[in-house]
Amino acid sequence: MASNLSYKSFSKFYDIFELIFLLGRKGNPRLGLLDAIGNAPLHVLDVGVGTAASAILVAGHNTQNHVVGIDTSAAMLAAARRRITQRGLTNLEVFNMSAADMRYADESFDVVMASFALHEFEPPLREKTFQEISRVLKPGGIFYVIDFAPQDDRATRIFLKLWALVEPPCFAGFLAMDWHRHLTAYGLRLEDEREYSFSKLYLLRKA
Ligand SMILES: C[S@@+](CC[C@H](N)C(=O)[O-])C[C@H]1O[C@@H](n2cnc3c(N)ncnc32)[C@H](O)[C@@H]1O
Repeated sequence: MASNLSYKSFSKFYDIFELIFLLGRKGNPRLGLLDAIGNAPLHVLDVGVGTAASAILVAGHNTQNHVVGIDTSAAMLAAARRRITQRGLTNLEVFNMSAADMRYADESFDVVMASFALHEFEPPLREKTFQEISRVLKPGGIFYVIDFAPQDDRATRIFLKLWALVEPPCFAGFLAMDWHRHLTAYGLRLEDEREYSFSKLYLLRKA
């Protein structure tokens, strides 16, 4: 939706984005994500954490999860830190780090999540991100994605056509991606996908 430069001003009103889920009838994907991860002692990484909209929900409800979020926008991270402090969350930290070059050891996370970030990554960054996610996930670990996704209903088709106007050109290619075929190449097997308003939750497991 925005370049790193424009996230500086965008971070101030980014959370208005949440309102789009009220327009759809299939539910809020962030709640689906929260439910899917579950409350267990899991080490969770949120890639492209932004203002921590999903990470705060997960860490706030799943108090046994330890969540770390990474992002390259200082402004988005500052907004995330303010919200984390306001809520007094001690199981969520955020760091300035690129998804393409993570400073984490191989197989260090039980769960990796990416919410509404990958659709705006240009293909080279997206591919490097998939490679890094596969590297830092433990064997049997799960990669959860919530993001915009095509669906058969008319409301979603119209919404995505309009939303594409505010997204970078790589958005169309992202929507057309075959998750099963594409992610198998990274050792990640698509086990489930669920529909939410204008979006889907994908569950991919590392072999
Ligand atoms: C649309 S926002 C999504 C934020 C949040 N995950 C959410 O659900 O609202 C995309 C985020 O990806 C971040 N981003 C862009 N390039 C990145 C990179 N190379 N590594 C990590 N984060 C990146 C942006 O700074 C931005 O905060």
